[in-house]
Amino acid sequence: MRLAAATIAAGALLFAACSREQPPSAPAPEPAPVVEAEPELDPLSGLKMTGDWQTVRAACTACHSAKLITGQRGTAEQWLAMIRWMQKKQNLWQFDAITEGKIIAYLADNYPPSAAQRRMELPSELMPPNPYEP
Ligand code: HEC
Repeated sequence: MRLAAATIAAGALLFAACSREQPPSAPAPEPAPVVEAEPELDPLSGLKMTGDWQTVRAACTACHSAKLITGQRGTAEQWLAMIRWMQKKQNLWQFDAITEGKIIAYLADNYPPSAAQRRMELPSELMPPNPYEP
């Protein structure tokens, strides 16, 4: 009888030891998010050194600081409109189509519109009266 009890006890111990729950394995680590490294900035102009940045530096910093560019945001259409405006009003010369395409692509890729940059223009009836209007 004693032997049986001891056997049962030993068996129970053994069972307890073996069936101990495995510690929950640590969750598989999340795959690291793919962070595209921001291109370095040209120390001279502050332009992002990627793609055709040298074309842009050569074409766009003769008259004003590149800060006017890096502080601006726009879609390809908006950048093109700014260039057309400078060509019309500010003596900016014409670019050949390939150069212009490179400039626009660089600008739209690297300085795209950001949600916080500009709000939609308000319709005039939603604005206070213009105090400067005669
Ligand atoms: C021939 C001279 C000249 C060149 C070259 C030139 N710009 Fe300008 N740009 C101007 C002038 C002048 C202004 C107005 C500056 C001011 O408001 O103080 C201006 C203003 C700007 C502005 C500000 C527009 C705004 O709405 O505030 C941006 C952005 C700009 N230029 C981008 C460019 C880009 C991009 C290029 C290259 C394609 C370029 N510029 C090349 C003359 C030039």
